[in-house]
Order: sequence, then structure tokens, then C-alpha cells
Amino acid sequence: MFRFLWQLLGESPFRGSVNPTRAPLLMSSGFRRSLPFPHPWNFREPIQILESLFVDADSVTGSGRHTVYLSVPGVAPFLVTRDPQLIRAIAVETGDKDGQFDRDTLPSDGIARATGVDSLLYSNGPQWRHQKKLAASPFGKSTLFQPENFEEFFQTFRETVRDRLEVCRRTAAENGGSVEVSLEAEIKPVMMEMLTNSFFGAEVSYDEIRNRYVPSLELIIDDIVRDTVMKRLPVPGFLTRPNKNQREQLKAARADFEQLTEIVLSKRSSGEGLWRQFKSDVPDEALKTNLRVFLAGALEATTSYAAWAISHLARHPEIQEQLYQELQPVERYSPEVLSDSLVLTRVLDETLRLTPSLYFLPRRATANVIVRTTDGRDLEIPKGTHVLLDVWHANRHEDHWGTAITGYPAMDFAPDRWRVLAERNVDSKEMLHFGFGHGPRVCPGKHLGQLEVALVVGSFVKLATFRALSSHNPAKAGVSTKPADGCRIRLTLREQYRNPDHPTAEQRND
Ligand code: HEM
Repeated sequence: MFRFLWQLLGESPFRGSVNPTRAPLLMSSGFRRSLPFPHPWNFREPIQILESLFVDADSVTGSGRHTVYLSVPGVAPFLVTRDPQLIRAIAVETGDKDGQFDRDTLPSDGIARATGVDSLLYSNGPQWRHQKKLAASPFGKSTLFQPENFEEFFQTFRETVRDRLEVCRRTAAENGGSVEVSLEAEIKPVMMEMLTNSFFGAEVSYDEIRNRYVPSLELIIDDIVRDTVMKRLPVPGFLTRPNKNQREQLKAARADFEQLTEIVLSKRSSGEGLWRQFKSDVPDEALKTNLRVFLAGALEATTSYAAWAISHLARHPEIQEQLYQELQPVERYSPEVLSDSLVLTRVLDETLRLTPSLYFLPRRATANVIVRTTDGRDLEIPKGTHVLLDVWHANRHEDHWGTAITGYPAMDFAPDRWRVLAERNVDSKEMLHFGFGHGPRVCPGKHLGQLEVALVVGSFVKLATFRALSSHNPAKAGVSTKPADGCRIRLTLREQYRNPDHPTAEQRND
């Protein structure tokens, strides 16, 4: 009631030393594209929607520069922040304790309809805590990076990557050593194969993965975005429903997804792959929701991460060469090799900073709560507020990541900034890119994803040099972000890989 009155009077519902700026509901740059929330004409451009909220913020001095809010009488306020300190404070205060933030389910309704509501990703409170315990053992760093486990996963991952790169190598070799490809389409099946076959121990053929399961999941993921936005709009369902043909394709895609989930789950009883580490007696049925989330989410996020890394390297031949020099002598990866590979680590960190796969983290205030940043500011957020932690724009702002702090402009892809930061002794806890989230709801697949992406990027750099076909590198965004050009590159095989027929013994060890 009080909130409604406040909103009518145009009062800010927020209190504290952080004073968010009110974002106008209609932006001046035209009507449709400038509404700062998703609707049928703009929902394929979520990054631009976030951007439009900050359109005037750069002229603000003080604490409203990086935090804005939207207020409509009768509707819970939306708070959007690109302030890294505030992002961190809210991420740390997310969990199942009294007064802590929930993950806001509003932007992931469609995911829940496609995968189920009781997943680790979607649930909150005690249900989330329970799911988290279940996921801890197989995904934890101690499991994945234990010498025997690491070696086993690494071998199977390497075989997968090697087989796929061999096809790529052959195609290029038959074309005089150089070929143009849209690499995103090649990365996706490799990522899925690593997950289903190497990690979950299934034996799905590459053809099935590439021609059936990946296209089906693409369709489902695309529909998740449409479904999430359209179901919220106050318009009759028949206006926003897919047509008959699309509905049939979706039905078939969902059946494929279900079948893939069953295949992966069927390996549990014989303890293949990761299932060996999975110590729980919950019935198979109770694991399905999480498996669907792992399959779809991991495919999206790891493809995004690897495609962005290659896409940036394709525009920076000098960094590609540094990476090649670093990795060329490496024959066997181990956790130590991975952590000693400084160029690789910086390239991957810089990739997640500049182009995070998940571009915002949604939260919801479960009580009136005061959050405090580590630099001594506070903000009282009323119960029910939808909070968008806008990681994409936080990571690209000169105030936080610019030349004065990191030695390089924030908008540049510059892995060397991480060396500068280390040399300047900047506390690494102060420079978070949130690429895997932060706090209690941090990504459980972080170590698995990093291992997969490091391997794919490392192996690719050793096979070929590659150049982007355009210098501009814009993003497309749905559930995750990806290079808008589909990672289109011209690759040229390194000298030693050009013979179409005779890969050498060293090649087989790459
Ligand atoms: C390597 C690429 C990956 C990236 C960049 C990534 C990114 C993220 C981020 C940013 C979050 C936090 C979301 C939030 O705070 O609201 C998250 C959560 C999550 N990720 Fe990942 N992820 C990756 C790989 C994976 C993999 C391989 C899996 C599983 C096989 C996975 C499963 C999950 C789950 C279940 C959550 C929700 C955790 C919770 O709410 O407690 N992710 N991921």
C-alpha cells in the first residue's frame, strides 16, 4: 500500500548511501525499441534493453551512475545495477537463509517449463539447498581435478576434440590448407559430445549428436526465450503461440531431448563416467530435471565461452601466437599445466570479462534488506524488488575496468590487463568478472566448463591460425550471449598439418 503511494508520488522506494537513478519508462530514441523491458519487438535484443536503461546514466555523477530503477505504480520495482561492488554484495547475500535474495524466477519461467521446476538452477530455499548438495560431489573441483579423475576425463575429452579437429584438418588440407567456417556450428556438437559421452559415459554417435540432438536443443532453447517473454504479456495466447508447423517441430524436439536425458541417465546403474562419483540413492526420476538443465545449460554456456574465446583470438593474431608459443610444448594437460598456462588463463578470463556467457544474474528480495558493499556504501532494497545484476555492462565500463585501473580500455580485448593488475597488486577479489557468478549460487559446472573450453581453445590454436572475416565483433543474446557472426573465420592449417593423408604421430598426440 505504502509502496503504491510512493510510486504514485514518484518517490524512490530505495534508501541508503547508494541512490539509484530512476530510468524513464519511455526512452527518447523512438518508441518501440526504447521501451526498457522485453516486448514482442525487442525481446531478441536483451543487451540493448539493458543498455537503454543506462542511456543517460553516464552524465550522472555519484552513486546513481551505475544503478538505476524502474517503477510502475502497482508493480514491484526493478533495480538494475552495473556496479561491481553492489553486484558482489547482492550475489553474496543470495541463498536460503532468512532475508537473503532468491534467484528471480521471472526471467527463467521458460526454462522451468522446458526442464522442470525443481532444478538447481530454478529452485530457491530448501529445495535449492537439497539440489546443491546432490550436485556438489560430481562437479566439485576436488572430484574433477583429482589426478585419476582428471586423467580419465582428459583422455576422453581429448579423443573427442582430436577426432573432430581431424575432420576439420582434412577438409582444410583438401582445400589447400585453408578454409572458411562458421565455428559455432562445429563447437556445439563437440561440447555436447564431451558432456554426454565423456562426462556421463553414454555412447551417442557423433552424427546423432550433430544432426539430431543439437538441432533439437537449439529449437528448445530458442523457444525458451520466446516463451518466457510471451507468457508474461497481457495479450491473448493465440496471438503469441507458435504456428502449427513450429508446434510440431517443437514436439519432436522435446521428444529428442527426453530421449537424450534417458540415455544419459541409463548409464547411472553401471556407474559409467561421472556417475561413479555420484553417491546418492535418489530415484532416477528425481534427477531428470537437473540432467535437462545440465544438458541444455552446459551446451549453451560452454559453446558461448569457447566461441567467444576463438572469436576474440581471431581478431588478435599476436595473442593467438603468444598462446601457440605457450601451448606448443604441452602434450599432456594436468591441473598444474592448466594453472601454469598464464596466457591461456588470461585469455579465458578476459573472454568472460568482456563477453560473459550469462549477461545478467537475476535476483529477488525476499524481505526488506540492507546490503552493504565492501567499500562502505549501503542500499535498502524493499521486499519483492526484482534485481538484475547487469554483469555485461559492469564488465565493460571504463570506471571499473578502464585504462586508469587495468592499463587498457575497458572495451578492448586485452588479456594482458590481468598481468597489469597482478603487477599493480590489485586484490583479485576486487576485480571480479562474475563469468561463473559469485557467492552461494556460483556455477557448479565451473571446473568442468573451464577444462572443456581450455582444451578446445588450446587444441584449436595448435592446429591452425585463424582470422575473423570482419573486425567488428557484435553479440547476439538469448539464454546466453554468442558472437553474432556465428564465429565465422578463415582457418589456415599450421605447416605440419597440411598433408591430407598422413597425420604424424605428434599430431595424434595433440
Ligand atoms: C563453461 C561455461 C559456463 C559458464 C560461463 C557458466 C555460467 C554460469 C553462471 C554465471 C551461473 C550463475 C547464475 C546466477 O548466479 O544467477 C551459473 C549457474 C549454474 N550453472 Fe553454469 N556455466 C557454465 C557451465 C556449466 C556447466 C558445464 C554446468 C553443468 C553441467 C552448469 C550448470 C549450472 C547450474 C546448475 C547453475 C545454477 C547453480 C545454482 O543456482 O546454485 N554450468 N553458470
